[in-house]
Amino acid sequence: MTRKKTEEALKWQMEMGVSETFSKKIIKPAKVKPIEASKAEKEIANKRSKDITAQAIKKTVVSPKISNESFDELIKLSRNLADNAKTLEELKTSVMNYDGLAIKKTATNCVFADGNPKSEIMLIGEAPGENEDEQGIPFCGVSGRLLDNMLSYIGHTRADNYYITNTVFWRPPGNRKPTEEEIALCRPFVEKHIALINPKVIVLVGATATYSVLQKEESISSLKKTVHNYHSAYLGRDVPCFAVYHPSYLLRQPSQKKNAWHDFLKIKNFIENV
Ligand code: URA
Repeated sequence: MTRKKTEEALKWQMEMGVSETFSKKIIKPAKVKPIEASKAEKEIANKRSKDITAQAIKKTVVSPKISNESFDELIKLSRNLADNAKTLEELKTSVMNYDGLAIKKTATNCVFADGNPKSEIMLIGEAPGENEDEQGIPFCGVSGRLLDNMLSYIGHTRADNYYITNTVFWRPPGNRKPTEEEIALCRPFVEKHIALINPKVIVLVGATATYSVLQKEESISSLKKTVHNYHSAYLGRDVPCFAVYHPSYLLRQPSQKKNAWHDFLKIKNFIENV
């Protein structure tokens, strides 16, 4: 590692609140662009003002109400498509062709997944934001850069160690939270997605992901205390799950970065010992 890189690594770790070392081995940070605080701050400030607009949009751009009957039909259809997808490519095609969610009409891209499909760790977030919608890649905006940095400082990269997706495949307008209906309609695809990746561990990023996969509504601060089991009917087995803070929460609450870093170390330790 060059001196500059070492300095960057130390600076970042201090920001994360690292106050002790766990191993004598230096963890080499992976090649990711470090976030400049000022840039990140500008983007958060930007996002905050967008969020205010988002609240205004939310009042007017709601998902058109689906009748119970057609909702049942749409769920049957997503379940059927998920059941029939035998490969990741087939599942991706089925998701892209599925017209059950109105948010598909306002989205630019379907955001399916990124990372290593052979990875032992599957990370599931909430829904695409503006950058993800533009590029069709999950976690490629400011939250994604923070996520990549957190992974790099435990010696992981998304390209090697993670397969990354979301609970909903299209961007909800104005970055609002996905509705119950949107989560439910995508759930069969998410379940089949997990089965096709067949991970050793699932990392659930934020409360929407813990709700979608575990149907648990407690806070992340409470859910992150234990390892949960997600029962996959497709796989016929339980998959251990960790709940972690969403990076967008960490950008708003930097004091929690230290805890998040410990949480990712725990996951690393777990995966190395299963
Ligand atoms: N937040 C998420 O939960 N997922 C993304 O892909 C981007 C931001």
